[in-house]
Amino acid sequence: MAEGDFLEMATTALGIGAPPRHVALIMDGNGRWAAARGLPRFEGHRRGVEALRRAVRAAIDLKISYLTVYSFSAENWSRPREEVQSLLGLLHRFIRNDLAELHANNVRVRVIGARSDLAPEIGDLLREAEQVTQGNSGLTLVVAFNYGARQEIATAVRALAEMVAKGEIAPESIDVESISAHLDTADIPDPDLIIRTSGEQRLSNFLLWQAAYAEFVFLPILWPDFDRAAMIAAIQEYAHRDRRFGRVEAPRRSAKTAS
Ligand code: FPP
Repeated sequence: MAEGDFLEMATTALGIGAPPRHVALIMDGNGRWAAARGLPRFEGHRRGVEALRRAVRAAIDLKISYLTVYSFSAENWSRPREEVQSLLGLLHRFIRNDLAELHANNVRVRVIGARSDLAPEIGDLLREAEQVTQGNSGLTLVVAFNYGARQEIATAVRALAEMVAKGEIAPESIDVESISAHLDTADIPDPDLIIRTSGEQRLSNFLLWQAAYAEFVFLPILWPDFDRAAMIAAIQEYAHRDRRFGRVEAPRRSAKTAS
């Protein structure tokens, strides 16, 4: 049996139909997971990285094309210094330890978020992850690091304003497409499904522009407990949503129209 047929049988059996092309994850609840066990917050984040590995494996197996993870927000710098240092250390170790395996699994790594104010060694690390994997054709893992959606939109608008000021474009030419083209996600399709763990129900400055027609699934579990079953449960819920994109009738659900 061809791999595609097997996958179709498997996804039909799970009741998830065509998988969403792009899933985005707000990995929330590491601190609460640790506190509930009398452990330091760092331990919650460390276990959060293990959950991230499970999420990547599940995304590969479910043939999701893009997985975006909110690993560090522009606002996270205001956390206590030791926590910021431990998150930076985890990112460092994640890329050092996992890059070879991601590459072997044909994963392409992309990073979104502001690079200019990062320490050079972090910037180099992110660049290396992108460069090593840029030729891969499997899952695109989009790591949102030092990311803030409002900042991203402001940067795009500033770039367009500078083009207007130089006479390169007319103000009337600024539209949805030109703003999208100046975001960090210019070449990445909008997310179909945004999953947030921990029971909180908000976007927290994540993909505000790109989420215009995303479906949201809020899971009551804490991020370190996230696994393949949680991913499948979220996709099953997504599969039952009617995505109308402002129209009256839902477009037919298929690999092409589910995006
Ligand atoms: C939110 O939990 C989570 C984060 C701020 C960071 C997410 C990071 C990871 C999963 C691990 C790091 C991964 C990389 C690649 C750097 P929280 O601390 O806000 O939890 P709480 O709301 O329960 O306190």
